[in-house]
Amino acid sequence: MLLEIPQLLNQAQLEKMREMLQPARFVDGRLTAGRVASQVKHNEELAQEPEVLQRLYRIVMASVGHSEVFRSAVLPAKVADFIFARYQPGMRYGDHVDDPIMGQGPRFRTDVSMTIFLNEPGAYEGGELVIRTPFGEQRVKLPAGHAVVYPSASVHRVAEVTRGERLVALTWIQSFVRDAARRELLYELDQSRQHLLKTDPESDVTKNIDRSYVNLLRMWAEL
Ligand code: NI
Repeated sequence: MLLEIPQLLNQAQLEKMREMLQPARFVDGRLTAGRVASQVKHNEELAQEPEVLQRLYRIVMASVGHSEVFRSAVLPAKVADFIFARYQPGMRYGDHVDDPIMGQGPRFRTDVSMTIFLNEPGAYEGGELVIRTPFGEQRVKLPAGHAVVYPSASVHRVAEVTRGERLVALTWIQSFVRDAARRELLYELDQSRQHLLKTDPESDVTKNIDRSYVNLLRMWAEL
């Protein structure tokens, strides 16, 4: 499932982050790519400057942790440290799937990939995230502060930036439910459950739906 999460970051957070990223040092993105991906990757990533990174993580993780849509759709067990990537004119990232296992300390499986857009679509031309789905290619270019999540196994690319600068935050998540179809089903069921818990909390229908959700999650969750 490809899902857009609107307004994950607010204007103040975006401004703060851009202010920190503007003077920061970026390095060739190929340094962090797997062997196959590095052949098609052409972008820049924020250098490992622990102090800047820690401050950026704090801002972005607070928002991600508070997003109900994110929690319900992704069912996150482990969220990787964010990478901040920059694409300037001529840069692109060709078709690839993300590395299946990541992490230098504790390792984790990548089930879901997330891109948060940090500058406005008008600030650059090109730079769409193009994701292959069973229903054709989806081109994603969202307002600043919006995010998109999609299965890490899907083939995707970033179209060449022809003007301006594309600035994004990226992370990868190991989900409690590794199968994308099951996550999608749980997400839809959770939408109905949340709605019923608000509108009709005492009814038997609500209680049944709630129990079904909880027990399906128990059936499919892996720790
Ligand atoms: Ni990727």
